[in-house]
Amino acid sequence: MPQACLWANGIRRSRILLDRLKVLLTREQIAKRVAELGAQITRDLKGESVVLIGVLKGATIFLADLAREIKLDSTFDFIAVSSYGNSHEQSGEVKLMKDVDQSMAGKNIILVEDILDTGLTLTYLKHQLMGRKPKSLKIAALLDKVSRRTEQIHVDYTGFEIPDEFVVGYGLDYAERFRNLPDICILESDEESS
Ligand code: IMP
Ligand code: MG
Repeated sequence: MPQACLWANGIRRSRILLDRLKVLLTREQIAKRVAELGAQITRDLKGESVVLIGVLKGATIFLADLAREIKLDSTFDFIAVSSYGNSHEQSGEVKLMKDVDQSMAGKNIILVEDILDTGLTLTYLKHQLMGRKPKSLKIAALLDKVSRRTEQIHVDYTGFEIPDEFVVGYGLDYAERFRNLPDICILESDEESS
C-alpha cells in the first residue's frame, strides 16, 4: 500500500474516500524537484531580494519548502481568491478574498501557486499584481494540468506536468481535507473506484 494511504488509514471515518487515494508523486520526488526550482530561482535573481506571494491555502506547503531552497534575502506575503469551494468543478469566476499586506512597487515578486488548471486564477492574479508596478513578476506553480488550460499564461517555474486527474496532498485539498498528506495523490472519482 502506498505510504500516503498508510498514513491516511489512521482516519477511520473516511474509509471510502481513503480507498480512492493513489500516490502520483512521492515526497522524495517533490523534494528533489522543489530543490531544483529553488536553485534556478536563486540563479535567476542574482543576489536580489524577493517577495514570495503564496496563494492561500493550497500553496502554503510548497511555499514553505521552496523558500528554504532559495538562497536570497526573501520575505513572504499571502493572497487569497475564491476558487473551487467544496466541489471538483470551478465556477469560472475569480474573486479576491484577501490582498497582500505590503506594497509591491519596485519589488521582485514570485507568485507561488499549488496547481495550474484552467489558468483563470493565475491570469487574474498576474493582472492584479502587475497593476502594483513590481520590478519583476514571476510565477512558480508546482503542478500543471496542461490539458485543462483555457487561458494563455506563461509560468516561469513549473514543478511537474500532470494528467487531468483530481489531486490532493502537499497542500492541495478536497473539501479542505488531505492538505497534510506528504505525497501528492490522485483522488479517484466514485465511478472509477466502484
Ligand atoms: P485554475 O484557476 O483553473 O487554474 O485553478 C487553479 C485552482 O484550482 C488551484 O489553485 C486549486 O485551488 C484548484 N485546483 C485545480 N485542480 C485541482 C486539483 O486537482 N486538486 C485540488 N485543487 C485543484
Ligand atoms: Mg489554489
